[in-house]
Amino acid sequence: MNLDDILPVRYEEGRLLVMDQTRLPGECIYEEIRTKEEMWDAIKKLKVRGAPAIGVAAAYGLYVSLRDFSGDSMEDFRLLARDNAAYLNSARPTAVNLSWALRRMIRLLDSFVASPESGVSEEASAEPGVSEGANQGRASVEQAKKALLEEAHKIRIEDEESCRRMGEYGLSLLRPGMGILTHCNAGTLATAKYGTCLSPLYLGQEQGYDFHVYADETRPLLQGARLTSWELSRAGVDVTLICDNMASIVMKNGWIDAVVVGCDRMAANGDGANKIGTSGVAILAREYGIPFYMFVPTSTIDLETPTGDDIPIELRDGEEIYKMWYQEPMAPEGVKTYNPSFDVTKAKYITAVITERGIVYPPYEENLRKIVEG
Ligand code: MRU
Repeated sequence: MNLDDILPVRYEEGRLLVMDQTRLPGECIYEEIRTKEEMWDAIKKLKVRGAPAIGVAAAYGLYVSLRDFSGDSMEDFRLLARDNAAYLNSARPTAVNLSWALRRMIRLLDSFVASPESGVSEEASAEPGVSEGANQGRASVEQAKKALLEEAHKIRIEDEESCRRMGEYGLSLLRPGMGILTHCNAGTLATAKYGTCLSPLYLGQEQGYDFHVYADETRPLLQGARLTSWELSRAGVDVTLICDNMASIVMKNGWIDAVVVGCDRMAANGDGANKIGTSGVAILAREYGIPFYMFVPTSTIDLETPTGDDIPIELRDGEEIYKMWYQEPMAPEGVKTYNPSFDVTKAKYITAVITERGIVYPPYEENLRKIVEG
């Protein structure tokens, strides 16, 4: 099982590459991102998608948008960084990892500026033909760029580690031979490497657990069909693709022992926004007495958002529903549509929240805060 071949975001030899996931499963193609506009577009169009992967991509994207800055004023550099971060942050509203990663990059820059030892390298300050002050300024800007790239690497590596740990915690809740339903894609393609809720399935695969996974197709953008069934079958996991409206029958048939899903933003009270349709799956799971596990790295827990009602829900173009996947439109042209990209699963339907720091059980209001604040 080689997940390194399908990482959604790579930074190699000074090039930022994102896999264009809109072309999966047909083609696995990487695109180089050179500007903030290209990064914004890649996020908006879901070339790179999934909450943690969006955060990683945006962190690198911010660095890439700044690396050609040639001035020597640190203040100008900082202002540009803030503007570019605000711009990137406007690409999609729901996944909190986007603003989380960008805020972290800006905080790093602020602390770099504040700390005197952030330094001016000897060679840079000796640049000929430039006044000492300008030299110092330029050197500081170059150091700041380097620090930003290092921070982006850190965000990626931390996500990889945290997915691995969520996999271990998640696997402790599952038993060999279980039937598992998942919705959308919270796998490698959505993160720095192992996925959130698919991570235990990969670990289980390595350890001979023989899970039977049911992947909801996840209309309208088909992340379950195009991405989850692709990445799992590629890894040799037994996966069966179903339409979203078949979740109830597979549960009723007794084929599902657990539901595992990711999350785009979890509010302080444990309400979790995830791909549209997730809340319906959770309500069904409750009806059939099936545990419903939400995998939520602490980077996706937003204690500043009190409840699910406060989470902004992205609305997308209605053409995604009736036109995009068909040769002919499957509804009258101009039909009225409503296309929310996410919904909120109420905390009461979530059996447990799996984070990289441990498994959290209700009362979430209290226990999420404990796990985030330590
Ligand atoms: O619109 P998308 O494809 O970005 O939505 C992704 C999801 O809803 C995932 O389930 C979520 O981001 C968790 S990813 C580990």
